[in-house]
Amino acid sequence: MGEALQGLKRTIMCGEVRESNIGESITVMGWVQRKRNLGGLEFVDLRDRTGILQVVFGDEINSEAFNKAGAVRPEYCIAVTGEVVKREAPNNNIPTGMVELKAKYIKILSESETPPIYIKENLDAAENIRLKYRYLDLRRPDMQNIFKIRHRATKAVRDYLDNNGFLEVETPILTKSTPEGARDYLVPSRNYPGMFYALPQSPQLFKQLLMVSGFDKYFQIAKCFRDEDLRANRQPEFTQIDLEMSFVEADDVMALNEGLIAHVFKEVLGVEVKLPIKRMTFKEGMEKYGSDKPDLRFGMEITDLTEVVKFAEFKVFADAIANNGSVRALNLKGGASMGRKDIDRLGEFVKTFKAKGLAWIQLKENEVKSPIAKFLKEDELKNIINTMNAEDGDLILIVADKNSVVFQSLGQLRLELAKKFDLIKDKNEFNFTWITEFPLFEYDEEEGRYFAAHHPFTMPMDEDIEFLTSEPGRVRAKAYDLVLNGEELGGGSIRIHDTKLQEKMFEALGFTTESAWEKFGFLLEAFKFGPPPHGGLAFGLDRMIMFLAGTDNIKDVITFPKNQNAFCYLTEAPNVVDEKQLTELGIATVKNEK
Ligand code: AMO
Ligand code: AMP
Repeated sequence: MGEALQGLKRTIMCGEVRESNIGESITVMGWVQRKRNLGGLEFVDLRDRTGILQVVFGDEINSEAFNKAGAVRPEYCIAVTGEVVKREAPNNNIPTGMVELKAKYIKILSESETPPIYIKENLDAAENIRLKYRYLDLRRPDMQNIFKIRHRATKAVRDYLDNNGFLEVETPILTKSTPEGARDYLVPSRNYPGMFYALPQSPQLFKQLLMVSGFDKYFQIAKCFRDEDLRANRQPEFTQIDLEMSFVEADDVMALNEGLIAHVFKEVLGVEVKLPIKRMTFKEGMEKYGSDKPDLRFGMEITDLTEVVKFAEFKVFADAIANNGSVRALNLKGGASMGRKDIDRLGEFVKTFKAKGLAWIQLKENEVKSPIAKFLKEDELKNIINTMNAEDGDLILIVADKNSVVFQSLGQLRLELAKKFDLIKDKNEFNFTWITEFPLFEYDEEEGRYFAAHHPFTMPMDEDIEFLTSEPGRVRAKAYDLVLNGEELGGGSIRIHDTKLQEKMFEALGFTTESAWEKFGFLLEAFKFGPPPHGGLAFGLDRMIMFLAGTDNIKDVITFPKNQNAFCYLTEAPNVVDEKQLTELGIATVKNEK
């Protein structure tokens, strides 16, 4: 049964009714949160997007309405007309708690089966059920709040960029693969059997083409698609705030973008982001925090012990140093209270990041305990303790290896210890930093060659251009990432607009002229026609909303997300398609025996 509105109009939202409305006749529409019968009266909590209003039905006013109200159940969709009255027993927990609606008429607009999940805040239900019935999950006030935040944030982004002379421009979804480093999602073509479009991993090359077109300042709230292993902050389909600017250098792009961040945080949370945002080089991030996205809400920096132990006879240290590696350590203040078993567990932890072991020195009750003490001379041990600024009660944790392993294992250990010992004191802190001077190339040991760390159109730093082909490993890029509380919020770079330099870059990457043209011909062609100097950046919008909404799960900020295996419980995509559709596309599938 579902009644039609038949001209009935809503006059006010449930959550907006106040004492000032007392005496007014109003009509509200929404869903039944709960209903109870008390002393011959039916009480209904009616919910819409704005909140809850208590509605009371008594048979002395209209017994037909009273009887109908007796039949409603949770999540029925109803309309109620009546008079706002003062509530005898106010409820201070809700904004409408001083009043209630004395109902005269009710329409049952539609009935509801018992929902498979509770429509309430802080729901603790299995994820697959929440995602299968996502439309009900999204009825919950805490979820609706997240999407109000998302709306306000994107509006703030649009307002700020509009005020700064940007044009919002769309770019294609069916396109050719662009080099962002992840696997592409492919779309088969009916017109060209056996050929495929790729869904964009980002609008990167199109936004650069728009600079060639003279659009000057572009932005887009852009859907991006990447087929990669998913994590708590990654979805296969996500949204970027993508922008690009002409006639700018790195400082200009960074200044504009920190202004954008400050505007969004102010508009949405009322939080002042202190500008300018501090900067740190990639090198410093790695050396002090073992990360290119350091969490700066706590200290415990990594210390280099290589010089201190360079003559030590401990084979583990000597080998690491001889192989161009290093010996580095953390000082966990107060960590000496840890038992042997717990320290061993930390050893297991660093092994998951390829460290071969974790040496430690415990300063407990004025005694030095360490499994490596026997390999070190007394003054070496003392020097380590001094260099680490360690005092009684501390625990020094040391890794010796090649630098990449030392940085990653100690960087991760640092984060793990912060969690374990609750080192992040201010849970409301937003600690931003720019990371600059990224390496232009990454060396792939398996393939034995250099790859572009960002993409092949990233501009090298002027002073490093001379090493482009001779020593690619030392070339730094005009690239920058914005990091917030240890997460990468966004990143970008100044692009190469000079053909000669671009050719050198391809050479360093091992592309022949032909293979470069085959991949990026349309961009190289465009760059023959007076490309302006340009650069840009993209923020992960979903990640930004995670911070604004205070959640650490990216699925919470996306209306209809995929699960960890890129499956949609709601629509059950991906799924099989008709044989006829495949035939049209010239596609035959092989049975997956998995
Ligand atoms: P990049 O690849 O660094 O740069 O992406 C920019 C930002 O997008 C977010 N992000 C993701 N968010 C959710 N799920 C994912 N799978 C995912 N992958 C990336 C991150 C990241 O910082 N075209 C360049 C930008 C440029 O140079 O202008 C680009 O896409 O927050
Ligand atoms: P061993 O002589 O192998 O028993 O090692 C002595 C100590 O050195 C143990 O505590 C190991 O965990 C530690 N250790 C082994 N390899 C490394 C390494 N690469 N870096 C730091 N400590 C290590």
